[in-house]
Amino acid sequence: MTATVYAVANQKGGVAKTTTVVSLAAALTELGFAVLAIDMDPQSALTFSLGYDAGQMQASMHDVLVRSEPLERAVHQHAETDVAVANADLAGAEVTLAARAGREFRLRGALEPLRATYDVVLIDCPPSLGVLTLNGLTAADRLLVPVQCETLAHRGVAQLLETVADVRQLTNPDLRIAGFVATMYDSRTRHAAAVIDDVAQRYSMPLIGVPVRSSVRFAEAPHAGRSILRYADRVPGAAAYRVIAAELACVPVDAQVRTRAEGRRT
Ligand SMILES: Nc1ncnc2c1ncn2[C@@H]1O[C@H](COP(=O)(O)OP(=O)(O)OP(=O)(O)O)[C@@H](O)[C@H]1O
Ligand SMILES: [Mg+2]
Repeated sequence: MTATVYAVANQKGGVAKTTTVVSLAAALTELGFAVLAIDMDPQSALTFSLGYDAGQMQASMHDVLVRSEPLERAVHQHAETDVAVANADLAGAEVTLAARAGREFRLRGALEPLRATYDVVLIDCPPSLGVLTLNGLTAADRLLVPVQCETLAHRGVAQLLETVADVRQLTNPDLRIAGFVATMYDSRTRHAAAVIDDVAQRYSMPLIGVPVRSSVRFAEAPHAGRSILRYADRVPGAAAYRVIAAELACVPVDAQVRTRAEGRRT
């Protein structure tokens, strides 16, 4: 086996990158895939939302990127996914790596020995287009863009796609755009649906699966150290991530799950 590596990126803050990584990791694990989620954000929301504190751990992504520690030393086995943890030290990596040759290739190199261990790798990028996100895009086969269904949501996407063009030219010619995940969708407004159509047409990017509906349960799940799939299995958003995972993995979507994702009763 050789892993398919996804970078989950959007330099806009708070669009559900981390939530998408956790939820998709859990959904892909449910489907029987071996999944690794990698925290590339110094805010370490991914690490915390699975119940870890990398300050207490033997190694983190900072050590992997800066000190060339093997990636597996930063990996922990959560019940729902393997996760490579980060802490605030990672902010220092931006600075340290800036002065190093081949700085964009650190993650790609670190991941190489583990590509045979996993089916899917999901990289949680920080809300910036700095060296950490460039590492994510350089290590990835495909880019997944979470887009929040709100006015002007598309604005940052153009800049992200310019960065993708640079990455293709300079560090990773094989990077493909998988598509976008529509997040925090409010089905009561026509506006949210218009945002999705606009992004799809403007950037010729496919919507993956179905929009992920808003639920306060998403904000609660990290406090329990679980994904939405384990924390609040019945909310439409949990079903939506199952649909998205199935679509990415090219496996059939259960009709009942799709119905639930669309907010209809099953
Ligand atoms: N479908 C949803 N419905 C309601 N709230 C959501 C949904 N998805 C995510 N959220 C909430 O939105 C907030 C931002 O989500 P998240 O941290 O995943 O975004 P992010 O893009 O990773 O942020 P950052 O740019 O800071 O890394 C969190 O409080 C999260 O719980
Ligand atoms: Mg995040």
